[in-house]
Amino acid sequence: MKNIQKTLLVAAAVLAASTSMASAAKLTLYCSAQEDWCQSMARGFEEATGIDVNMTRKSSGETFAQVKAESSNPKGDVWWGGTGDPHLQAAEEDLTEPYVTGMRGELNDWAISQATSAGDRTIGIYSGALGYGYNADLLKANNLPEPKCWKDLTKPEYKGHVQMANPNSSGTAYTTLATMVQLFGEDGGFDFMKALHKNINQYTKSGSAPIKAAGRGENTIGIVFMHDAVKQAVSGFPIKVVAPCEGTGYEIGSMSIIKGSRNLDEAKKFYDWALTAVAQTRALEVKAYQVPSNKGAETSPSAPDLSSIKLIDYDFKKYGSSAERKRLLKKWDDEVSTLPQ
Ligand code: G6P
Repeated sequence: MKNIQKTLLVAAAVLAASTSMASAAKLTLYCSAQEDWCQSMARGFEEATGIDVNMTRKSSGETFAQVKAESSNPKGDVWWGGTGDPHLQAAEEDLTEPYVTGMRGELNDWAISQATSAGDRTIGIYSGALGYGYNADLLKANNLPEPKCWKDLTKPEYKGHVQMANPNSSGTAYTTLATMVQLFGEDGGFDFMKALHKNINQYTKSGSAPIKAAGRGENTIGIVFMHDAVKQAVSGFPIKVVAPCEGTGYEIGSMSIIKGSRNLDEAKKFYDWALTAVAQTRALEVKAYQVPSNKGAETSPSAPDLSSIKLIDYDFKKYGSSAERKRLLKKWDDEVSTLPQ
């Protein structure tokens, strides 16, 4: 009898240990890139490591707000993707964890600068230029001229034809707002946003939604990252991509470990893996044509060539700072979004 009891006890202990081991090997991933890319990264990491990933996709500004709201009881481990500005703000507000990856030697300088400017609380994973795309069939059907510049989008003939995301929820739209202020000055930038507001048919939650709507024929022009417009074009939709004549801003898509992560070892494993050439090359499978931060990752010939685009010297330090991001968003809420259309 004693032996049976002993055997049962040992069996129970082994079961408990294996259950706790299995439940330890998991990761909660907050993702702010395109949904299909987020899925691919989650599945790829599971296949590479056997660690279960629980992934949710939300826009960059929304994820920042969630990480902040959960800071006294963090639920996420890694925040992967989305524009760099809110990742920098999270670093400044002590919401993310410093980590120096062994992968640094394989990365482009711009990815490392992002890390250095944030005390290693974030790092660059991809880069891409802002622009817009339009549905060429709809443009023709409405007898509209081909827009080439930012300022073209404020002309009265485009009324009701332009869509962009809300800069509070979307990193793409915040990049748009910060780009206009840097291109045209504070007053000129806000004058542009006010004139544009008259032509906007909808402010969406997610940054890439306006060009997906254009692909489906439900909207004419979408202000998005150029790679998001290219994705629609190579998927067979009648989308033309525009690099605006005045020049444009860009993003350093970023990744951060959430402070208080309950699965810190798994979070670091994901962080290192996500910076490998193999993991970054997965982007091509879902037509995500950003510039990868790993120098050895493959790029597509369809990807926008950043060296041929007039890029501004986007001031990430300033526009990713907590005070400036809050100030610009409040000013946009107060002075732009409330205007009649
Ligand atoms: C798209 C782009 C990414 C960008 C992200 C930001 O997914 O492909 O390059 O980082 O938008 O998303 P958001 O919804 O915050 O604008």
